[in-house]
Amino acid sequence: MRRNLLGGLTCRTLTGNSRGPEGNSVPGITSTDLAEWTVEDLELFLEVGITPSGDFTGAHMADVIEYSTSKLSNEDRTAISHYLNSEANKP
Ligand code: HEM
Repeated sequence: MRRNLLGGLTCRTLTGNSRGPEGNSVPGITSTDLAEWTVEDLELFLEVGITPSGDFTGAHMADVIEYSTSKLSNEDRTAISHYLNSEANKP
């Protein structure tokens, strides 16, 4: 995690938000946050919304999946999943 001299975070890209819309918290999706997820887990999640523990996501993320990521090609979901799981997506 990058910090400035005062210890503040300098980069919060994809690190989530504990106070998201309508009081829901949005999880971080850096590769550290997703350490337990495989690329295949991410591909399936972005296609149908199921998590590795067998739960289905809800609320805003379900909309993201229904109207966006489920409509991508398998190749595009694979590319996103590799990125999310990669060193380049470390906080
Ligand atoms: C292409 C990748 C992804 C995109 C574009 C995306 C996009 C979004 C967006 C736009 C929101 C709503 C945030 C807001 O309204 O401020 C959201 C919420 C959320 N996302 Fe994702 N997301 C992605 C990947 C993931 C992954 C991999 C996970 C699993 C850890 C995840 C879990 C969630 C959850 C649990 C919420 C909160 C849902 C709620 O209660 O409103 N997302 N995401």
